[in-house]
Amino acid sequence: MHRYPFPIPFGWFQVGYPEDFPIGQPKPLYYFGRHLVAWRDESGEVHVQAAFCPHLGAHLGHGGTVEGCEIKCPFHGWKFDGTGANTEIPYSERTNRKARIETLPVLERNGLVMAWYHPYGEPPRWDVPEIPEFGDHPDFSTVLRTDYRIDACWQEMSENGVDSAHFRYVHNTASVPDIVHYETDGHESDMRSSQKFPTPRGVMEGRIDSHSYGPGISLVWFTGIIDTVNLACTTPIDAARCDIRFNFRFRTMGDEKTTTNVGRAFVAEVDKQVREDRPIWEHKAHLVRPALADNDGPFTKFRRWASQFYAEPVGDERLVYPPPYWEDRMDDAPAKSTASARHGGE
Ligand code: FES
Ligand SMILES: [Fe+2]
Repeated sequence: MHRYPFPIPFGWFQVGYPEDFPIGQPKPLYYFGRHLVAWRDESGEVHVQAAFCPHLGAHLGHGGTVEGCEIKCPFHGWKFDGTGANTEIPYSERTNRKARIETLPVLERNGLVMAWYHPYGEPPRWDVPEIPEFGDHPDFSTVLRTDYRIDACWQEMSENGVDSAHFRYVHNTASVPDIVHYETDGHESDMRSSQKFPTPRGVMEGRIDSHSYGPGISLVWFTGIIDTVNLACTTPIDAARCDIRFNFRFRTMGDEKTTTNVGRAFVAEVDKQVREDRPIWEHKAHLVRPALADNDGPFTKFRRWASQFYAEPVGDERLVYPPPYWEDRMDDAPAKSTASARHGGE
């Protein structure tokens, strides 16, 4: 039984940071339900390839070595280049042209290493934009990062953005935010909302503008307390788990120290929100036909947009997709509700 009706979406996804891939050290990765190897060649280019050597299946990320612009298998010394072609068999005159390693397109941009995943190996359908705030922008702070591994699929977590009402009830915002604009255009979607943020100095009016480039990348602007931009990346580990990486930069206000302090407080607030979302995401059922209220966000439009990223069939055998029964997680219920229930009974 599948956790979700959805297969793994295609798109550009973050697989790490530039420093995760030093020259000459192949690294095993597991994303998109596949064993992969990532390696940086001596010219500085990063490659992401299927992990298993086509000769007899050794994992190139466990003991493989980089020689120039080739990766060498630890098992029998065969070499492959960044396109996946076999370039040398040390104990044979000829190479093996059929021995090709599946290779994912890679981009290093905005301080991230991204790979294009498509289940049938189709080439990229769009590009990843350069985001000026993530280059050497004079008005923006250095980056602050957070990351999470979550037992939920991309679509379920991403739907959180259009779910305006949950901010009030899960995140305790002062009111239900107002989604003033939500439009989709091809692989992009654009949302603007206004929100009341609780701050130590009282409730402040703020805005959240979120622009998505396919399922893997969203650029989220927060304005109000401190201008903040979050390059938010979600990468499927498989069809039911994801890595989330947030990259925050702040418009510098006065001195570096003030910016960092206010920035850190802001990151802590977003971090708190993810921790509040997490038990809902991990334990909720996916409902194919949710019962919605008049003022709920644009769920239908979001789901229509999301559906374009599935090349493989979407399950249609059920209307309700519950999680598995996780016996070891029965104590995960949020502390606040457990505590108040206990106190109430005393
Ligand atoms: S398994 Fe890679 S060279 Fe033999
Ligand atoms: Fe949330």
